[in-house]
Parts: sequence; structure tokens; C-alpha cells
Amino acid sequence: MDRGFVLLFLSLLSADLPLTACEQQPAAAGKRSSEPRLSALCSAGPGSDRRRAPVLRRPHPGLENLLVVTVATKETDGFRRFLRSAKHFNYSVKVLGQGLKWEGGDYMSAPGGGQKVRLLKAALDQMKDEDQIILFIDSYDVIFASDPRELLKKFKQAKHKVVFSSESLIWPDRHLEDKHPHVREGNRFLGSGGFMGFLPNIKEMISNWTGADSDSDQLFFTRIYTDPAKRKSINITLDSKCRLFQNLHGALDEVVLKFEDGRVRARNVLYDTLPVIVHGNGPTKLQINYLGNYIPNIWTFEGGCSVCDENLQSLPGGDSDHPLVMVGVFIQQPTPFVTVFFERLLQLQYPKNRLKLFIYNQVKRETKIISWCHHVDAFLRDHGNLYENIKNIEPEEEMDAPSLCRRDEGCDYVFSLDVEVVLKNDKTLKILIEQNLPMIAPMITRSGRLWSNFWGALSADGYYARSEDYVDIVQERRVGVWNVPYVSSVFLVGGSLLRSDLSDPELFSSDVLDPDMAFCHHVRRKGVFMFVTNMHTFGRILSTENYQTTRLHNDLWQIFENPVDWQERYIHQNYTLIMKDKLIEMPCPDVYWFPLFTNVACDHLVEEMEHHGKWSGGGNVDKRIQGGYENVPTIDIHMNQISFDKEWRKLLMEYVAPITEKMYPGYYTQALFDLAFVVRYKPDEQPSLRPHHDASTFTINIALNQVGLDYQGGGCRFLRYNCSVTAPRKGWALMHPGRLTHYHEGLPTTAGVRYIAVSFVDP
Ligand SMILES: *[C@@H]1O[C@H](CO)[C@@H](O)[C@H](O)[C@H]1NC(C)=O
Ligand SMILES: *[C@@H]1O[C@H](CO)[C@@H](O)[C@H](O)[C@H]1NC(C)=O
Ligand SMILES: *[C@@H]1O[C@H](CO)[C@@H](O)[C@H](O)[C@H]1NC(C)=O
Ligand SMILES: *[C@@H]1O[C@H](CO)[C@@H](O)[C@H](O)[C@H]1NC(C)=O
Ligand SMILES: *[C@@H]1O[C@H](CO)[C@@H](O)[C@H](O)[C@H]1NC(C)=O
Repeated sequence: MDRGFVLLFLSLLSADLPLTACEQQPAAAGKRSSEPRLSALCSAGPGSDRRRAPVLRRPHPGLENLLVVTVATKETDGFRRFLRSAKHFNYSVKVLGQGLKWEGGDYMSAPGGGQKVRLLKAALDQMKDEDQIILFIDSYDVIFASDPRELLKKFKQAKHKVVFSSESLIWPDRHLEDKHPHVREGNRFLGSGGFMGFLPNIKEMISNWTGADSDSDQLFFTRIYTDPAKRKSINITLDSKCRLFQNLHGALDEVVLKFEDGRVRARNVLYDTLPVIVHGNGPTKLQINYLGNYIPNIWTFEGGCSVCDENLQSLPGGDSDHPLVMVGVFIQQPTPFVTVFFERLLQLQYPKNRLKLFIYNQVKRETKIISWCHHVDAFLRDHGNLYENIKNIEPEEEMDAPSLCRRDEGCDYVFSLDVEVVLKNDKTLKILIEQNLPMIAPMITRSGRLWSNFWGALSADGYYARSEDYVDIVQERRVGVWNVPYVSSVFLVGGSLLRSDLSDPELFSSDVLDPDMAFCHHVRRKGVFMFVTNMHTFGRILSTENYQTTRLHNDLWQIFENPVDWQERYIHQNYTLIMKDKLIEMPCPDVYWFPLFTNVACDHLVEEMEHHGKWSGGGNVDKRIQGGYENVPTIDIHMNQISFDKEWRKLLMEYVAPITEKMYPGYYTQALFDLAFVVRYKPDEQPSLRPHHDASTFTINIALNQVGLDYQGGGCRFLRYNCSVTAPRKGWALMHPGRLTHYHEGLPTTAGVRYIAVSFVDP
């Protein structure tokens, strides 16, 4: 009975405390009174009688003696991340210097940090507990990867009173290299960004500090460490193999993420250690940001993102209480589907009286793109009055949206939106505001490509580099809110941030970088975190390559460059349902009828032809065709006359061929044609077409306007079957066999003008 109880008790104990650690601990440890109680327990040793262990009164001895001390004069995003990780593991943290002006130098380059030592010294003077263990650590670029218990265990195992983090690079004084003791394995040099030790020893170590705030703390500690006598008396060692501290500078190749049981840690692959603290010292801020997207349990394979719904802010119920947002629409160059862009902007779910719209149209109004510019003007004219404010900013005016917001105390956010962004999610703005982050972009990608509007990493010279998780994020295998070094095309940034950290009026200027990169560079330098979210699907971005603006409806030609947007704009809404919902009709034998074009497609094609205007005379002599003679002539314009034949073939291949092959099984079309054209029927020009065979294997005949509305009469009659289609539907295609069976005629148009698009496929 008695024995069973003890065993049970012990197993509880060992679940709480890593006894393996104790077993490595020499029994000698813990002689001094200042030894924390963890060693007292461990000193029981494997051989001793555990039943007697008096320390059981304190189940986690030592933990309460650990105090994390850090200096943070400002509550930066990095500091908040540090606190979050500390809270996650229940570290007790004391923050020094809050609200003070930082005098310790530029953390990116020059030595400095003396202010930290001065503040630490003052704080420790107030503390008396000899058992107190202090972890003094930077915070803007530091994350805890594990809990205090593991940290204390490893501290014990280091068998010294003070343990410093180590570095492979010596800094700031290379001349001290020879004075550093050699280590058998691991880093040889001291890093002052993190150390841990007993209060009395640390007090002794910094007792002589009289330096200026801008003096180097690293140099100060290095001098003590490299002095053999002081090293011995204070009892200092280095954590050479990164068991406690991982400094990333000089060690980027050594550190990988380790996913394990719903937790994420950093693993040092060189020393095979799992550091408890990860520090993005020196020029490794981006790497700590990357690791901070995962560590300690921010994102895991098991649970996805654990923090993405933290700190959300909800938008007020009433429209008039919504934050005021300045929307900056950037137009760098003529861009496809600009009218669709503005339609979406109108549909964006947000009270319009809380939006101020600034349209930066950088397009020079040369004659050949005048018609394109009309789309922008039309939006301003037709809908401008819906918004709180709307302004068209001309190319000469140097007014960026951040500056405008900065000067306007009422401006809560800037929502920057490039015109090539296809924002499919009309809640985007709300979602971004609710996420409550300093700067955040919705992830958008180029359809079917790995291109997106964020970078996961930067190359050494500040350009694009691919992070290890980039593809997984773009392809939404990892979903979350990601701290990244660069976003573009569409993002939200807070007005208060623009009036504080980002108050430099030259946010976009740089001698070498383009404005987007300059902006992000600036944001990074200020320690402001940039996020991209793929928690929702937001949309995509258009390709602006090869966009010609010489035509009336330039978007018609985008079937190759932007096929998804082309389909949305021009292919009938119900086209994709044709097979599933059996939308295909058969009005006459072997004649199939199905929806193909949107109204817009029909209108654009007709307008484009009328704009071109070179209708054929309708005579038998036709220089456009092989042989120069047309037996059954129509008044028409060929697709190749408007250079639309390649695009037309693509249309036939993509959208007609699948239906042909379904309806005429066993026949595989190549979608080749000699003749594809738009025909115009008019009572006083050419009202009808006499019976004929088509020079095709099959023919496609698409009605481009609406009977009863645009014209009267019309239709098509198949003589062999005495069967007519007399009420053609706009956008619907008739498909029928060509030269053999389907002898047919065009029925007379009695009023108005009728247009059809005809293709003789596989002649
Ligand atoms: C931190 O403390 C809270 C309660 O104080 C507890 O619920 C939680 O499990 C602790 N977390 C860790 C990692 O020890
Ligand atoms: C440092 O302290 C430990 C006890 O914590 C002791 O075993 C060791 O000898 C000391 N080292 C030096 C160099 O004094
Ligand atoms: C502090 O200064 C005193 C007096 O110069 C010296 O004896 C002692 O070693 C110094 N301590 C440290 C840790 O530098
Ligand atoms: C698509 O089909 C649905 C139902 O079949 C119909 O209500 C809708 O009007 C159709 N869309 C168009 C553009 O014709
Ligand atoms: C053709 O059909 C029409 C009615 O649709 C009918 O009036 C006519 O008699 C038919 N002609 C022949 C030759 O069958």
C-alpha cells in the first residue's frame, strides 16, 4: 500500500519535472545558499532516497525566482511579439525604460546599448533576493521558444553563475579576438543581447558601469569576460552551442523550424540543440520575423494559425461611426478591364460617406489612349457624388495618399489599391480593418502563377527572394496572417502610424529603389511590421503586359493575357452549366443552341466592327477570300480585318470545341477556319441571305443583338427539315453541320439592324 502510494507520487513528480536533467546534474551542485531550489531537488541525485525530499512543498522550485528583465523605451511591434511569447509561457517580465527616449544608438549599426546597462544596474540595486535569477534580454527582436522550466534546466546544466549568449562573429572590437578563451565546440564570442545569472553575480558584473548611454554594452561585457580573473570570480560562461540562446547573426544557415506535436521551435542543426530564446540580432530582423510567424505556436500544421483571431476589432454598427478611409487608386498605365475595376470599387462593402477617394491617374492623355481614359472619367462623373470626397490627381501633382492622410487628422486609414488588382472579395476593406494590425495586405495572386503581392524574404541587395514557406502560403496550404518584408498593390495602413512612425514625407522616395520598395524599406527600418493575410480569398492581379490601347474595346483582345478576367467579362454566366444543367437545346435536327457570350461581349464586338467600319459591299467579287469570288455574299467584316483572328480561334478552341465534341461524338475539331466574320443585316442594305451550304464541317452562328429590341424579323431556316430558329437569343450560339445536310437561309430582317458572328469551322 505504502509503496504503491510513493510510486504514484513519484510519477507525478517526474511528469512535472524533467528528472533526466537532474540525473545529469552532479550531486555537488547546490551547496551555496543562493542556489535555486531546482538544484536542491536535483541534488537528491538518482541514488538518494526520494521519499525524503523535503522540497516537495514547492512543486516547481526555482521557477518563481526567475525574472525576465528587458529594456524597451518604445512599444514596438517587435516588443509586443516578445511579450506575447513571454505570456504564452508564463514568464514574469519586468520592462525597464518604458517611455524614455532611447539613447543607446542605432540598433542596426553603431555600437550602443549603454543605456540598457545603466537601467539594469539601477533596477537591480532595488533587488535583494540572493536566489533571484535574472534573464536580461533584448526584446524588439527576441522570441521565447520554450518555457521557464526548460530554460532553468539548461541554465543549471551550464554549471555557471552567469551564462551569456554566444556569437560566431566578434563585435564590436575584433582586436579582442585572441583574448577569448577557446571553446571545444560552438561559438567563441560573447553576445550581450541575452544573458542569465544569479542576481549577486550580475550585480557584481555591472557594478563598475559608468559608461555613456551610447557606449557599447557588448564591449563592456566582452572586456569582463575576456579578463580571466573576472570571468572566474563572477563565474561566467558562454552558451556556445545555443542551448539557451540562439543569436541569428552569422548563424542563419544553422537554424531551421522544427514542427512537433502542435508546437514549433527553432532547431540549431549544427549543434543539434533547441534554443529556448531566439534573437534576431544585427541584420537578421527579417529572419526573426519569419521565425516569429511560427514560434512558439503561432502557426502549426495541426491547428493552423492560433493568433489570427486575437485582437480583432469590430466595426461599429452605424455607418457614420465607421473609420474614415482614404482610398488611393493608382493607375500607372492603361490597364485591362478598368470599367470592371470601378464596378467592383462601387460594390466594396463600406459606407461610401466614410470613404475619400483619390484617383492617381498617371496615364498621359495621348490621343491613342483617350478612349481608355474615358472609362476613368465616366466613373468620376457618374459615381463621384456617392463618396465623402473624390479627387482625380493629375500626373504632375505630387500628392501621395499617405501624405494626404497624415495632414488630415480625421483620416483613420489609407487603403492603397492599384488598378490592376481584381478585388473579388467585397468585404476586403472590412476584413483588413478588423484584423487590427499596423499595416496589412490581402494576399492576391496572378491567376495560375506563383506571383503574388508579397515577398516572403529579401535578397542581400533588398530585392525579391523566396522564403521556404512562400509557395505554401501562395497556394493556401498554409493559411494565416504573415509578417513579411514586402507587400504591394493593395494594402491598408493606419493613419496614426502615418502621423507617428511613418511621418517622413519622403516615404516613397529613394535614389535606387522604386516607390513600392522604397516604401516597404522605410516601414521595415522603422520596425513597423507588415503583414499579408490569406485567411480569406481576396482576388487576383491582372497582367498589364502586351496591353494595346489602340482599339475601341481593347479588353476583347485579353483572352491570352488575362484569360480568367476575359472569361468573366465575356463568356456567358451560364456557359459553365451547359453540360451539367442540360442547357443545350436542339431547335432543329442536329442544330445545337447554347449560351456563349455575355451581353457585353456582343456589344463590344458589334461596336468594334462598326468602329472599324469597312463593311464589305456584298458583291460576289471579294478580294479578302481565296479565289476572290463569293457565291453567297453578305455585308460583313472578317475577324482578321480587326486582327482578331488569333483570339477568335482561341475562343473556338476553349469554349466551342468542348461542346462540338460532346454533341457530335467522335469528331475532333481543330477549330480551324478560313472565314469568321460579323454579318450585318438591314432592311435597306441586305435583309436576308438566300439558301446555301456553308464551306465548313460545322458552323457557329452567334446572335449579337436582341430581336424585338434591336431589330424585327431575322432568324435562320434549315430547308431540308423545314425548321426555323426565328427568335435568336442574344449571346447564344447556333451550331450546325456545314456543307452536306444543313442547307439553310437567312430570314429577312424587317426593321432595325441585326448582327451575327459566323464561323465556318474546319473548312
Ligand atoms: C500559464 O498559466 C496559466 C494560468 O496562470 C495556465 O493556465 C497555463 O497553462 C500556463 N501556461 C504554461 C505554458 O505553463
Ligand atoms: C562556477 O560555479 C560552479 C558552481 O555553480 C562551480 O562548480 C565552478 O567551479 C565555478 N567555476 C569557476 C570557473 O569558478
Ligand atoms: C570594479 O572595479 C574594481 C576597482 O577598480 C575592481 O577591483 C573590480 O575588479 C571591478 N569589477 C569588475 C567586475 O569589473
Ligand atoms: C442563367 O440561368 C439561370 C437559371 O437557369 C437564369 O435564371 C439566369 O437568368 C441565367 N443567366 C443569364 C445571364 O441568362
Ligand atoms: C413548313 O412548315 C410550316 C410551318 O412551320 C408549314 O406551314 C409549311 O407547310 C411547311 N412546309 C413544308 C414543305 O412542309
